Amino acid sequence: MNGPIGVFDSGYGGLTVLKEMTALLPQYDYLYLGDNARAPYGTRSFESVYAYTRECVFKLFDAGCPLVILACNTASAKALRTIQQKDLPKMDPRLRVLGVIRPTAEVIGNYTSTGKVGVLGTRGTILSESYPIEIGKTFPQLEVHQQACPMWVPLIENNEHLGAGADYFVKKYVNQLLDKESDIDTILLGCTHYPLLADKIAQHIPAQISIVSQGEIVAASLKDYLNRHPEMEHACSKDGSRRFLTTDDTTTFDEHASIFFGSEVKSEFCSIPHVG
Ligand code: DGL
Repeated sequence: MNGPIGVFDSGYGGLTVLKEMTALLPQYDYLYLGDNARAPYGTRSFESVYAYTRECVFKLFDAGCPLVILACNTASAKALRTIQQKDLPKMDPRLRVLGVIRPTAEVIGNYTSTGKVGVLGTRGTILSESYPIEIGKTFPQLEVHQQACPMWVPLIENNEHLGAGADYFVKKYVNQLLDKESDIDTILLGCTHYPLLADKIAQHIPAQISIVSQGEIVAASLKDYLNRHPEMEHACSKDGSRRFLTTDDTTTFDEHASIFFGSEVKSEFCSIPHVG
């Protein structure tokens, strides 16, 4: 078994993570799958996010990926554990699925001086309480304040995130977060779409608050994981290739994807069968 690293997201957001992975670990092959036909996931039920994510993970395994990264906080929050505990034990024991929440939670405490951290994410991620739970395991003394930002993914997906309309919703959610605790000095963007809004967010928060995107954190954690797991490192093929799959229109995907990935993207259509 030897194949590309699979990278999954509901749509485009995971490309901000893939961008950092390919920058740090360019030697590997990567196969990206965006479930654009069913995005956004952020407002969907646990059952839907689990069913959709599972289908996409199986698709990436079928395509030869030994390792799949859920580069989506919503999928990591709502589907990862069930896939790891229920589905993986029935499969080839060498296959692995990793998420983005734990690696981020394990380092976020290193960014704050006040010990008060804000987390912004989709409604699904925030309601799951995954960040407070995971952060509490490594940094039990940290105060974690959360805010769901349901309008941000639609703004970004419709390429309206740099326009004046975005200011209203950026200000709204950021103020709601800071109203909960004014001493927050670190804001974690707990959704892989949000790095595209980072500049706008910076305009609406006090200068001493730092904004943390997770792409570089997840890439560094993948590097560390591959160092610690030589059998998986050998199973990841290394021709430096990048392939992109979408469950929706490829022309639309290619137009939007380059904004997230930072360079040109040429995708292929991929149909997702319903897996029992
Ligand atoms: N990019 C995904 C995340 O990190 C969510 C986008 C969506 O709502 O589908 O949570």
